[in-house]
Amino acid sequence: MNPKETQLIINRVYNSALPEPGDLVKLLNLDYAASRSLFVFADQVRERFVGDEILIRGIVEVSNYCRNNCAYCGLNRGNLQLPRYRLSEAEIMECVGRIYETGIKTVVMQSGEDEGFDPRWLASLIKRIKHKYNLAITLSVGETSRENYRLWKFAGAERFLMKIETTDRDLYQSLHPGMSLQNRVRCLHNHDELGYQTGSGCMIGLPGQTPMTLASDLQFFKKMDFDMLGIGPFIPHPETPLGNIPAGNMETVYKMLALARIVSRRTHLPATTAVSTLSGREATRTALQVGANVVMINFTPEKYHHLYEIYPRRKGVSEWEELSDLENIAMELGRKVNYSKGDAIKNVKEYGFAVN
Ligand code: 5AD
Repeated sequence: MNPKETQLIINRVYNSALPEPGDLVKLLNLDYAASRSLFVFADQVRERFVGDEILIRGIVEVSNYCRNNCAYCGLNRGNLQLPRYRLSEAEIMECVGRIYETGIKTVVMQSGEDEGFDPRWLASLIKRIKHKYNLAITLSVGETSRENYRLWKFAGAERFLMKIETTDRDLYQSLHPGMSLQNRVRCLHNHDELGYQTGSGCMIGLPGQTPMTLASDLQFFKKMDFDMLGIGPFIPHPETPLGNIPAGNMETVYKMLALARIVSRRTHLPATTAVSTLSGREATRTALQVGANVVMINFTPEKYHHLYEIYPRRKGVSEWEELSDLENIAMELGRKVNYSKGDAIKNVKEYGFAVN
């Protein structure tokens, strides 16, 4: 494809209500040099629709118990090597307190699908956090009933994050024994209907994934109009069935970030932890230059870091080091870290002002 043709396709994808899979596939197949124009365009769309500021979230990994057996994830229930932990309410409040002290105004509580905690316990914890710190609360605790989602929404959680991982039905089925794509989509609709700000996303580099399946992921994102999209490379974990599969290709990750930005314009796109785990600080910087506008910082107590191993992770740095490094990256890029709640842009627009 010549540069003119590439630009034409980028424009068509940007302007269409639902981009053609064929166009998306062509862009995903661009070679290294040609993909620069895609990245430049995505960076402009990012600036125009979500601005220059980098939003920041604090994450707490609440429990590594999981009832599922996802083929890629180190927390899968078949991993008998892994000691399991569940934070106490006091420990979680301590983490949230540290988030609050840094000035960050949103906490993401993430967990395996832990059958050992009572949904009402989580609801009361949400109320406590809201009452004491008034942070925005994002839940990332997997699939459950609409009643539970409602309970937590009424308790005060305002966002829910649940990646679709892949929209390819067969691939989804083979990676998630006992689960179904249909149920996952049902959960995502529930989040939306209950009034959560919704988040989803996918992994790049799953075995059997093709540019066509990634194109269908992007179409799904567009149709569902998510407020947030987490996109990162697959990273092999030795204690899983996919332990010998190579990690996802970073160039493809950058293209998917760029396309997600172009297709879903106003969505919040994090430079994911998987990105920095696989390729370091430079990769976080690059992600922020091809469409991303959010970074998450880990506030789980250090002694649990090695146990929340969805993929092998780097030796942990403290949240203060991570934070100061992010400030440096922002400065290098001529951007700023924004410590507000960072609501979905749709909501901000609706109210006519940023709801902090
Ligand atoms: N590599 C990369 N990402 C992974 N996740 C789980 N396992 C892996 C892995 N091996 C991601 C999934 C999940 C999120 C919590 O972590 O996308 O939604």
